[in-house]
Amino acid sequence: MDSFVIEGGTVLRGEVEVSGSKNAVLPIMAATLLTRETCVIHHVPDLSDVRFMCRILQSLGAVVTMEGGTLTVRAENITGTGDYDLIRKMRGSICILGPLVGRLRKASVSLPGGCVIGTRPIDLHLKGLSALGTAMRIEGGYVHAEAPGLRGTTVFMGGRSGPTVLGTANVVMASVLAEGVTVIESAACEPEVVDLCDFLNAMGARIHGAGSPTITVTGVPALAGVEHRVIPDRIEAGTFAVAAVASGGEVTLRGARPDHLGAVLEKLREAGARVERRNGALTVGAGSTLRPLELTTMPYSGFPTDMQAQFMALLCLANGTSIVTERIFESRFMHAAELLRLGADIGIEGPSAIIKGGRPLSGAEVMASDLRASAALVIAGMAAQGRTQVHRVYHLDRGYERMELKLSRLGARIERTQGE
Ligand code: EPU
Repeated sequence: MDSFVIEGGTVLRGEVEVSGSKNAVLPIMAATLLTRETCVIHHVPDLSDVRFMCRILQSLGAVVTMEGGTLTVRAENITGTGDYDLIRKMRGSICILGPLVGRLRKASVSLPGGCVIGTRPIDLHLKGLSALGTAMRIEGGYVHAEAPGLRGTTVFMGGRSGPTVLGTANVVMASVLAEGVTVIESAACEPEVVDLCDFLNAMGARIHGAGSPTITVTGVPALAGVEHRVIPDRIEAGTFAVAAVASGGEVTLRGARPDHLGAVLEKLREAGARVERRNGALTVGAGSTLRPLELTTMPYSGFPTDMQAQFMALLCLANGTSIVTERIFESRFMHAAELLRLGADIGIEGPSAIIKGGRPLSGAEVMASDLRASAALVIAGMAAQGRTQVHRVYHLDRGYERMELKLSRLGARIERTQGE
């Protein structure tokens, strides 16, 4: 298993190109299953999750090629039964259920397990698809879905922690080819949902209201192949912005969409960072002081859970006490214990982490537990004095394209080592 070796204490400066969004491209890839025609997707990040999703589409019978950030999928003849082992290993693969039900009216997809950030149920996905007339049965670790008469209806998708992103995606993808009108209430408003709906509308779907809590889908008989460019990854952009501020430097995020980063940029400003839009590019840099913060994760357009760990690393460096409250996933604080190894002072009280910042961090060996936790450890390692080794960076490779290369170009001393 690869690890990163980081020599801390360097200042990040320069420009970095933001890659295509992981969480936008995964459901868009699933949406290609809705047509027999060829779909061409540009600005696709080279990530292990994307390669995994390619294998899933291939296992269903699609012909998939990836060349220099352009992915071509032709799902002319497909089966509705996914490879059990492939699907259960990647949580995001649940979003093939909606398009399979929509196109074939029948699907068997293995249940994704829980993961280190929480139990991650799919009850809302199942509730939404059932409302459209899908009969569901869970047997042998599979969800078996059958929908001879898929019909539009009104479905409320809000859950205990608010709307569900992939649940919304699944219901939208099942309803585009259903009969009649589907109204999704308490729909997720994330930019990734909007990108999916833009992709589907370009294919010939009739979706209104994406980006708002009410999405209306009017079913159409068939969808066509399409060409699409994926939105930039707002979480990758936010991660590099936080890394720049934590290092005391300044980074220009080429291709970032500031309109997708509202809550993140606001919190960076509140912490004392400089945020500027120059010639259409977004530049984020350290200010004269770094202030502690109180922040709570929320569905979009609130502060994203996918930026919580990186901010926790940053707040370890701010003089004073910060409170970070996680409201989306119940156990997304695995990074806290690893940050302690670097000398941070963090206490967990229920859904909140209390960070007493301003102690000097020093390098140590740490273990990555999930994608965003790994990013937090890299940020903290770059800000710490001495050498930090982050083990198990395969978590990072799931969602950050060539992170160590991008960081080295900004001045970080970071190397990938193989094995161990
Ligand atoms: N939930 C339910 N029932 C469901 C579905 C979700 O109770 O049927 C709960 C979850 O347990 C959680 C909340 O609803 O408490 C929100 O989860 P959501 O369904 O929105 O998460 P997701 O769609 O499975 C996507 C991203 C995650 C990101 C979340 C929240 C992808 C592939 N994944 O997951 O990304 O954290 O939305 O924004 O799009 C990451 O990139 O590191 C990552 C984990």
